Amino acid sequence: MTDRRRFLAFLAGSPLLAAAGLNERVLRDLGAGSHRRAAAALQAAQQAVQDGSLIARASAALNVFDFEPVAKKKIPIAHWAYLATGTDDDATIGANREGFDRWALRPRRLVNVDEPDAGVTLYGTRYPTPIVINPVGSQKAFHPLGEIAVARAARARDHLQVLSTVATTSIEDAIKARGATVWFQLYHDVENWARTLQMVQRAERAGSAALVFTVDLLAGSNREAMIRGARRDPRHCVDCHLGGAPLPGVSAVNDRDIRRKPNLVGYPDVPRIPETGTPTWEFVDRLKASTGMKVLIKGIVTREDAELAVQHGADGLFVSNHGGRAENSLRATVTSLPEVVQGTRGRIPVICDGGFRRGTDIFKAMALGAASIGIGRPYIWGLGAFGQEGVETVLALLRKEFELVMRQAGTKNIAAITRDHIVARN
Ligand SMILES: Cc1cc2nc3c(=O)[nH]c(=O)nc-3n(C[C@H](O)[C@H](O)[C@H](O)COP(=O)(O)O)c2cc1C
Repeated sequence: MTDRRRFLAFLAGSPLLAAAGLNERVLRDLGAGSHRRAAAALQAAQQAVQDGSLIARASAALNVFDFEPVAKKKIPIAHWAYLATGTDDDATIGANREGFDRWALRPRRLVNVDEPDAGVTLYGTRYPTPIVINPVGSQKAFHPLGEIAVARAARARDHLQVLSTVATTSIEDAIKARGATVWFQLYHDVENWARTLQMVQRAERAGSAALVFTVDLLAGSNREAMIRGARRDPRHCVDCHLGGAPLPGVSAVNDRDIRRKPNLVGYPDVPRIPETGTPTWEFVDRLKASTGMKVLIKGIVTREDAELAVQHGADGLFVSNHGGRAENSLRATVTSLPEVVQGTRGRIPVICDGGFRRGTDIFKAMALGAASIGIGRPYIWGLGAFGQEGVETVLALLRKEFELVMRQAGTKNIAAITRDHIVARN
């Protein structure tokens, strides 16, 4: 151990590694006890020093991780940091991944699954896989076509897409590019209900079938990796962002720049920022009463809140910790999933997101009662690396892996995947 620590300290001082983009966290993880973190750090180290190993085209990817270093190279460092950041020391991002390791597969044999059917039906619409494209803000920070490229990929592969309030594409344009409904994710504006109502009505008019109300950022979040990355960017944020936003702490909150956020403009009394005031369950009641769209709540992680959500008429839930970007809970969403499902008692669909990167991850969540699963960063890696084709390939790879696991486990459709197909590891 002493030798290893000395070696790592030596590495940490190497200008060569700094030039290759290796940071202290990677080196620390290399020396960590956890097998998963060490393996991930090793992979990052290998990718950073062997530039030649980066895939040159989407079709060369073996898995979704292959897109990450390519996207990292192409995306400006401040924008990359916005994508990659968690909160505090980013530990909940790792916890989300480690949550899947707590479960092992319990496959059944001699079942004919030549043609697995991974299809799910959400509120009457059938999708060929349970993989939902989760809301991620500001996608034109990663590729010039941003959410439009993602919508076209969603259309080509027939996936459900959820558009963020702070998207760089309007809900109208996203639905046009998708050629079908896109759900609208809502950040609240408690201080001015009239404006919230206008946003909700606009989404409904545009053709959104569902409103996804995100509730896990009510107290803000401490995104240190984002600030560090922005500091390393030689460009000046103020050249593009009013007041130097979106850096928290750099400018007053009210200076947050919404010029490229079309879902926040066009109202007589424009909200300068989407998140104002602290909503309570009463806000959910108001949302429900104000729209014909389905209303889902995103960010629920406890049985108690799942029960309350059902009582307040929610039509569905996202078990989510914002991809480790909300509170640094250290609790994997796949660990929270069973109690949330229990709280709903099967009355409304539960979608789980956070750390899904493999077909086996999807299988485990479906076995624990998820109706679908959501992905965030992986499709943005695809977008940043190769635009629409990258997103499509990420979706195709995840689907291929998931269908393979379904075959391996002897489960011919989603209903056949049960709790008996997985078992807790010690
Ligand atoms: C860069 C970034 C921006 C995000 N923006 C939003 C958002 O605007 N609204 C929202 O509800 N969730 C947002 N999320 C959270 C995602 O919807 C999702 O919960 C999370 O990314 C899932 O974890 P994963 O990235 O490990 O797949 C964002 C996530 C990232 C990485």
